[in-house]
Amino acid sequence: MSGHAITAPTRNARLLAWVEEMTRLCQPAQVHWCDGSDQEYQQLCDLMVASGTFIKLDPQRRPNSYLARSHPSDVARVEDRTFICADTPEEAGPTNHWADPEEMRRTLLTLFKGCMTGRTLYVIPFAMGPLNSPLCKIGIEITDSPYVVANMRIMTRMGQAVLDKLGPDGTFIPCMHSVGAPLQPGQADVPWPCEPDPKKKYIVHFPQDYSIWSYGSGYGGNALLGKKCLALRIASLVAHKEGWLAEHMLILALTAPSGRKHYVAAAFPSACGKTNLAMMLPSLPGWQVHCLGDDIAWIRLGKDGRLYAMNPETGFFGVAPGTSQHSNPNALAAASRNTIFTNVLLTPDRDVWWEDMGVPAPAHGWDWQGQEWTPDCGRKGAHPNARFTAPAAQCPVIDPDWENPEGVPLSAILFGGRRPSTIPLVNEAFGWEHGVFMGSACGSETTAAALHTAGVLRRDPFAMLPFCAYHMGDYFAHWLELPQRTDRDKLPKIFFVNWFRKNDNGRWLWPGFGENSRVLKWICERVDGTGRARQTAIGWLPTPEALDLNGLRISPEDVNELLSVDVPGWKNEIADVAANYRKLDSHLPAALSQELEALDQRLSAAR
Ligand code: OXD
Ligand code: MN
Repeated sequence: MSGHAITAPTRNARLLAWVEEMTRLCQPAQVHWCDGSDQEYQQLCDLMVASGTFIKLDPQRRPNSYLARSHPSDVARVEDRTFICADTPEEAGPTNHWADPEEMRRTLLTLFKGCMTGRTLYVIPFAMGPLNSPLCKIGIEITDSPYVVANMRIMTRMGQAVLDKLGPDGTFIPCMHSVGAPLQPGQADVPWPCEPDPKKKYIVHFPQDYSIWSYGSGYGGNALLGKKCLALRIASLVAHKEGWLAEHMLILALTAPSGRKHYVAAAFPSACGKTNLAMMLPSLPGWQVHCLGDDIAWIRLGKDGRLYAMNPETGFFGVAPGTSQHSNPNALAAASRNTIFTNVLLTPDRDVWWEDMGVPAPAHGWDWQGQEWTPDCGRKGAHPNARFTAPAAQCPVIDPDWENPEGVPLSAILFGGRRPSTIPLVNEAFGWEHGVFMGSACGSETTAAALHTAGVLRRDPFAMLPFCAYHMGDYFAHWLELPQRTDRDKLPKIFFVNWFRKNDNGRWLWPGFGENSRVLKWICERVDGTGRARQTAIGWLPTPEALDLNGLRISPEDVNELLSVDVPGWKNEIADVAANYRKLDSHLPAALSQELEALDQRLSAAR
C-alpha cells in the first residue's frame, strides 16, 4: 500500500505518515484521498446505488437525493459505548465512561487490525468552521464507509481546500473510523455493513492527543466524526484549554419589524426541537427568524468583549419523524433536494415519507427495513430516529452571516428542556452565575420513543451530558470564569424556556412552534431594556401583559399557570439538582452551591 502515499495530494509529513500507518494496520484493498468535488460525490453515490446501500429517489420529486437503510442494530448514537480515555477517571468525571488509555489503545489496535480487508480506505480532509475563521479546526477522517464520505461532504467543508490550508506542517485531529466488517475474498457485501454486536462497538476519545477512534457503527454521530466526536467532545477539551466554549446549541437571528436584529444561541437536550426553533416561521407579523445552525455553536470572546457564536457545520442531520409543514416548513424545504435520507419510508413513486410528516401516508410502501408496509400494518414506516442530511445553504431562511468567520455577537443564551410541570414558559436569570446555574440544572423528560420509561426526568446540564469530555464540575467552572475576562454587561442575558408545559389533566398549555416567537420577542425586549417583568424567587418572569399574545387563543388561566412559580415543585427541583451536584464532589464550583442555597431561601420566603 505504500505507493499510495506517493500519489497523495498533500506534502504534510505527519498526515502522510499517519495514513501510511493506518493503511498498514487496516489492510484495505485500496486508498482513496477525497477531493470533495461534485464529480467525486456523484461517483460515490453511483457506487452506493450499485452496491444497494443507496436507493436513488425520483429526480423529479427529490432531485439528486438518496435513501439509505441501516442495519437494525445500528440506528442511533451509542452513549453506553462512548468512552473518554483521560489519564485518570477523575479527569473524565462521573458523567463519562472512562477507560484506561493504554488498555483501550491495545483493544482498538486489535479491532482495527485488518478491519478494512476487501474495502476502500477513504481519507476525508475536513474543516469544522469556515476555513478563514480563527476557530476553524481541521480533522482528517479515515473511514471504510462511502456513506460516511457522502454525509461528511454535506455536513462539513471537505476536500482539497482543507489539505491546501493544512499545508506541509499544519496539525489536524486524527479521526479513525471503521464499520468493522472486513470482506474476505469472494465474500458478498451487504447494503449496510457494521458490527452487529453492541458490545463490540466503540466510540473512543483520547484527550492526550485529541484523537478519535470509532469502530463498528456507520450511523450518525457514531461515524460522522466531525459532529459530536470532534465539534463537541474533542472541542470541549480544546475550548477548556484555550478559553472558549464548544456547545450543543442552535444559533438563530431574530429581526424585529423595526429591523433591529438579535442573535440568540439555545441549548436543549436531544429531541426538544432545536432544529424546529432554529429555523422557525414566527407567527408574529413582521418578525423574522434566520438560521445560523441547528446543533452546535463554537463561542469565543470577541475583541469588543462580547461573545461571538459560529456554527462549525455546513449541514443539518435532522430527525425526520415529526418534521412537517406545521412544525418546520424550512427544514422540509432544505431537504427537498441534494439530500440523503436514512431509515425513512420509501413510497411507490420513489419519494420518502415518515410519521407526522403532515401529509397522508401512501396506501403502501417499504418501511425503513425495506419490508412491505401499509398504514394499518402495525409497524412504523420510518424509524423514530430516521434522519435527513441536508445542506444548510438550502435552508430558505439561512442567515447571510452563517459563514461569517468571526461568528455573530450573542444577545441572549437560552436553556430549555421538555418539562411538563413546574418550569415556567420563560424565566430570565438574575445574572451570569444564576444563568450558569440554570444551564447546570437543565433536564428533559424522556419521551416514549426513547429507551427509558416515558416521563422520567433526565438531568442534562447545558444539554452537554453526552458531549462534555471532561469533568462536568470543571466545565461549570469554565462557564463561571467568563465574567473575569470581560465586562459583565457585555455578556448575553440568560433565559430558561419550556415549550412543553402541561396542566394537571395532561393538556399542553402552550402551542409551541411559530408561537414561540412571542417568547423570543419578550427576550429581545428584555435585552433592549423595554420588556416588562416581575421579580420572583426563581428569576424574572414576564408580567402577563408583557407577552405579546395578540391573535392567540389562550385563556388567562393558562397564561397564569405558564408564568407562575410552583413553590412545592421548585422545592423538589432543588432536591433533585442537589443530588446531581453531589455527584460532582469537590469539582462543584462553590458559586453554584451558593446559587442553589439562595434559590432555596428565596422560595422559602415566598411561601
Ligand atoms: C443529535 C443529538 O443527533 O443531539 O443532534 O442526539
Ligand atoms: Mn444534537
